[in-house]
Amino acid sequence: MRVLVTGGAGYIGSVATAMLLERGFDVTVLDDCSTGHRDAVVAGAKFIEGSVSSEESLAFALSGCEAVFHFAAKSLVGESVEKPDLYFDVNVNGTKNLLKQMSLAKISKLVFSSTAATYGEPEVIPISESAKTDPTSPYGATKLAVDKLITEEAKSGLAAISLRYFNVAGAYKSKFGWLAERHNPETHLIPNLLRSTVDNSIKIFGDDWPTKDGTCIRDYIHVADLIDAHILALENLAPGKHQIINLGSGSGYSVAEVISAATKVLGRAIPVEITSRRSGDPAVLVADISLAGQALKWRPKFDIEKMVSDTWESANAQYRK
Ligand code: UFG
Repeated sequence: MRVLVTGGAGYIGSVATAMLLERGFDVTVLDDCSTGHRDAVVAGAKFIEGSVSSEESLAFALSGCEAVFHFAAKSLVGESVEKPDLYFDVNVNGTKNLLKQMSLAKISKLVFSSTAATYGEPEVIPISESAKTDPTSPYGATKLAVDKLITEEAKSGLAAISLRYFNVAGAYKSKFGWLAERHNPETHLIPNLLRSTVDNSIKIFGDDWPTKDGTCIRDYIHVADLIDAHILALENLAPGKHQIINLGSGSGYSVAEVISAATKVLGRAIPVEITSRRSGDPAVLVADISLAGQALKWRPKFDIEKMVSDTWESANAQYRK
């Protein structure tokens, strides 16, 4: 089966491409390289440089495919507040274009990259898929709008699963080499704390949150576990059905706990600086992952130390090049 991976030059999309190829699928990547990297598209995938905003590029990329993994999107919460129109255009209109072209090409299998940001500030922890959806950013609102579009499309036969990611982390050592996060700017905790040095400490955004140690709690999931769930999702699609499934580890780690895991992995102290809270951060986000267990027979394998050590190893491998 050939799978179209939109956004296959990005962090998560590149790991998906590699793991699909390793498991015997054929892959076409469509990416405009606006935030992704051409060299992250692994050998063996057919690459088409183009955007989901172009119906022509989509139609061309879909040729010969039987299923789609849709990652291409704008994905920075802060930027979405400054540029909501851009986020609606790329994320919502881009997906409308994709669904239209899939329908014209009679391709009815879709796995969509959704997010915990669709829930907004949670009322109950852990967060299940039946929780209220009230996004606190345009980014979350666009992903929720796409989930709703997909639900509508499933009424005419589309087989779809939206996977709502919590905090994706780690790197993947594929047979093509390491694939890791390379965002610019980098806002995520783990890559940032690994870059901290004596002169440049990691900033902890607030130690006065209502949590056990005062720092925010998140649910981190290794990117390889995440893609494993996507491939299981592909195998569990049902015509006319749109399932929404959380992907996390089911356990919460505070920022202080992540730093302490990194200290252990690196074998050296990490300099920290406590600063004020980052606006828009909820105190605690932890996924209820029981549905992923039931529907996909999936369970995450890798812990926070593995996420840190893989990120560290991949950065060192990059440095040695
Ligand atoms: N943090 C720091 N210092 C840093 C970076 C992060 O203290 O330098 C803290 C944040 O305040 C937060 C935690 O570390 O408590 C994790 O922050 P990240 O930026 O790594 O991730 P987020 O939780 O902000 O973002 C994730 C996803 C987004 C998604 C969002 C939904 O990466 O795609 O959750 O809330 F939209």
